Amino acid sequence: MYRALKPLLFQLSAETAHGAIHAVLRGVESASPARSALDRWYGVDDDRLRVRAFGNEFPNPVGVAAGFDKNAHVPQSLAALGFGHLEVGGVTAERQPGNPKPRMFRLPEDEAIINRMGFNNDGADAIGARLDANPLPDVPVGINIGKSKSTPLDEAADDYGYTYERVAEAGDYFVVNVSSPNTPGLRDLQHSDALREILTALVEAGASPLLVKFSPDLSREGIAAGVELAEELDLDGIIAVNTTTEREGLRHPKRVEEGGLSGAPLRERATSTVRFVAERTDLPVVGVGGVFTAADAYEKIRAGASVVQLYTGMVYRGPSIATEINRGLLALLERDGFDSVGDAVGADL
Ligand SMILES: Cc1cc2nc3c(=O)[nH]c(=O)nc-3n(C[C@H](O)[C@H](O)[C@H](O)COP(=O)(O)O)c2cc1C
Repeated sequence: MYRALKPLLFQLSAETAHGAIHAVLRGVESASPARSALDRWYGVDDDRLRVRAFGNEFPNPVGVAAGFDKNAHVPQSLAALGFGHLEVGGVTAERQPGNPKPRMFRLPEDEAIINRMGFNNDGADAIGARLDANPLPDVPVGINIGKSKSTPLDEAADDYGYTYERVAEAGDYFVVNVSSPNTPGLRDLQHSDALREILTALVEAGASPLLVKFSPDLSREGIAAGVELAEELDLDGIIAVNTTTEREGLRHPKRVEEGGLSGAPLRERATSTVRFVAERTDLPVVGVGGVFTAADAYEKIRAGASVVQLYTGMVYRGPSIATEINRGLLALLERDGFDSVGDAVGADL
């Protein structure tokens, strides 16, 4: 059905299409029979897909990446589409409009998106209250925390801390996002001293499980230092990766747009970062970037990812993407003689 719908959606601007999909999902969110029907249609229930990582039990390894449900409007609907977890946000302490539109661009020839949304979100007070008031799905729900645009970098720790306190009750895990390219200076926080201050503040506030999400544009030394810091502070995992500002190999004219690039062109870079991280730590790694198919997910799992996430893949492949990946993963596990996803994690290291 998505094959029929996609040309129509692709006539709309990327953000308008996203809004249309969200409107449908919001309808589903409040309609329990619709959610049950989707769940029956899209769910792939198989013990071999179950993963335990950073204190959570994932029914399958395919999650929704941060940015898709920034305001926590549709967590149950996403779970009903067969996803094994989802990450709400980025949430910032302050409510923010984000950058002026247009700020999200599809590059169909490249199967990519460039976005410079700039953390548009309802803010920690509203999102925390929404999460507390509404039922959540029975798959893990992570909360991705970003920095408010107006907060100076040297006050970032308090800003992240404020948001954490507002979403603390609802999250099954928490992510410090210092890797979005669309908030000026944010990625500078990946350097050790600033990152140490933010992570320490959250650890002291009781944020657990706590993960940190890195940019693929950070140098290898920078990532290695981040991994060491995560170990030293006893964090629970690492997410690799966020969008990139690189533009190599793109064909579509929109490649000149400013912002973070996601999708197929990010795939290899993301996988090599997953491998780089997994080679350096026993902390669980969440692999994200260019996951469209079971083979893509499997590659990241074999490179060391315990679970994977996707955003751009859903735009290009549609709502059955989690189902297709999970079914495909079962076939790949069987082909290679693995009893479960867990057995395949890091098989290529
Ligand atoms: C429109 C859009 C908004 C995003 N917003 C966030 C965000 O708020 N926080 C974050 O950590 N990542 C955000 N991301 C990055 C994704 O979570 C993911 O790391 C990246 O898109 C790579 O995965 P993909 O190739 O499957 O899209 C966003 C991505 C897109 C396309």
